[in-house]
Amino acid sequence: MIVLASEGGEVGIGAAVEVLRSGGTALDAVEAATRLVEADSSNHTVGVGGLPNLLGEVELDASIMDGRTLATGAVGALRGFRHPITVARRVMEELPHVLLVGEGAARFAREIGAEEAELLTPEARQRWQEWLGENVPEEVRRAWPPRELAPWARLTAQPRLPRGTVNVLAQDRAGHLAVAVSTSGWALKYPGRLGDSPIVGAGNYCDDRYGAAACTGVGEWTIRCGTARAIVLYMKLGYSIEAACEEAARELAALDRSSIQGGVNILALDRWGKPYAVTTRDRPPTYVLWEEGMQAPEERQAQRIAMD
Ligand code: GLY
Repeated sequence: MIVLASEGGEVGIGAAVEVLRSGGTALDAVEAATRLVEADSSNHTVGVGGLPNLLGEVELDASIMDGRTLATGAVGALRGFRHPITVARRVMEELPHVLLVGEGAARFAREIGAEEAELLTPEARQRWQEWLGENVPEEVRRAWPPRELAPWARLTAQPRLPRGTVNVLAQDRAGHLAVAVSTSGWALKYPGRLGDSPIVGAGNYCDDRYGAAACTGVGEWTIRCGTARAIVLYMKLGYSIEAACEEAARELAALDRSSIQGGVNILALDRWGKPYAVTTRDRPPTYVLWEEGMQAPEERQAQRIAMD
């Protein structure tokens, strides 16, 4: 049994450990952990408290995947619901579809009785207003939003705003794998922008036969490379988990990345429950890990892969 979670996941990993220790499934464990991160309003990159889009609206993305069956569900640009990960799971379980976005996702969330919530906290609203104050001339701000938002969206490609996501990966007692990913996405994004978190294959993938992978960071890069699926495919082809992650990082390095600043962090598990974490960033992030035999989760640091 093992659980690993990216930065911000510390608040949720204990719940996942409890699920696994009591004989629960990896799928239940990753959902339980992610729900706690989504409810943590001090985290400005996931769930309640997440930073909004350019219009001041918080749009949430999430996905979940079951490595036992390859079943998956995802929501994108969901507004007004506390736990997008649970809505994503219900998409997986109750619809013949994989991904719902925007109004359709909200409609489905209402239909299943998902908990509604005001996602924009006073602190997140203040950070949005501060950014507008620092970057947008007063005459434009007075009539906000302008007809053309694209020039302002381009300004947000500089990494002065938080960019985060939570990844939770687990393997249960029966050896099954699951991955959950949840985010408020790129801070001050163009409305409707989806990153890699709801794109199964880019930000999230798992298959019991080979392994699991998930990403945080600039989703625009991992969508281009199909990073999470690529890592699992490399493991299928016989690569070690380290070689699979490093090959995927080399694919990211080969992109023309001049238009957006920022890198990618990858968390992976192989089918034997071996974890690995890499980053293309200069400063490797930490992640939290618990495996059978540990009293409590421990913090670890990702390996840095040079991109240039
Ligand atoms: N990796 C999260 C995002 O790009 O939105």
